[in-house]
Amino acid sequence: MITETIPQIVYDKLSTARVIAAFTGAGISAESNIPTFRGDEGIWTKFKPEELANFDAFMKNPKLVWEWYSARKKIIHEAQPNPGHRALAELENIFDEVIIVTQNIDNLHRRAGSTCVHELHGNIERNYCIKCSKTYTDDAILSGEIPPKCEKCGGLVRPDVVWFGEFLPQDEFTASEEAAQRSDVFFSLGTSGIVYPAASIPQIAKYSGAFVIEINPETTPLTEIADVTILGKTGSVLPEIVHRLRSIKTGGKQD
Ligand code: OAD
Ligand code: ZN
Repeated sequence: MITETIPQIVYDKLSTARVIAAFTGAGISAESNIPTFRGDEGIWTKFKPEELANFDAFMKNPKLVWEWYSARKKIIHEAQPNPGHRALAELENIFDEVIIVTQNIDNLHRRAGSTCVHELHGNIERNYCIKCSKTYTDDAILSGEIPPKCEKCGGLVRPDVVWFGEFLPQDEFTASEEAAQRSDVFFSLGTSGIVYPAASIPQIAKYSGAFVIEINPETTPLTEIADVTILGKTGSVLPEIVHRLRSIKTGGKQD
């Protein structure tokens, strides 16, 4: 079902659900003014991923890659979680278990208060040495020279994000697969659903019997497997769902 309003079946399914999983992409942070990757204003429309987001490019021109990541770190650092992130965090007050599986590197789910977050593509607030793996905070490296070098071994320090051609962190991926398998209701939020292996997570949820709800202003390849696609922004649709759900759970006293 593709709809612009929230159908009753969403509340019916949520009313009996115990485990909720939410798979998120750049769209959920769009309302925090962090640009998405694809579409007219998308990052990959203006920049080439092969020049900025892969290991060979980094080794060839670490300064350029670091200049770009420093700028992104600044944008993300200054961004605030939006009502979509906060609504997901609030679900923890309603359900036994809420697991966030995110492709985003911006840490906004944790900053909004979500406590169980699996990051499939890393976290831009972390950095590590490519030679000895020593980890660095942004504070420790951004004040110095670009590209930053490891104080222990002199190796290049890189942001802890997954680049094209790299493996996803295995433990995070396994935990995400498990969350998809165990969830009663699975949300796919603000993602184009075309980057694999991450995009296999909603499919695992579907084949494991979860009720799949997609929220996105546009349809995506994941619309085909979603039970309901709500055409809208996560920053408006999610708070509306949470508000109504609270009222259902408290016997309608809240409205
Ligand atoms: P994309 O930029 O591919 O897709 C963003 C999606 O968000 C689109 O489907 C938009 O329609 C939707 N969208 C935009 N505004 C929205 C809003 N307010 N509410 C809800 N949805 C909205 O971003 P991702 O799917 O996250 O990978 O991209 C996946 C991966 O590709 C990223 O993690 C990144 C990128 O290359 C790596 O860096 C490894
Ligand atoms: Zn080192």
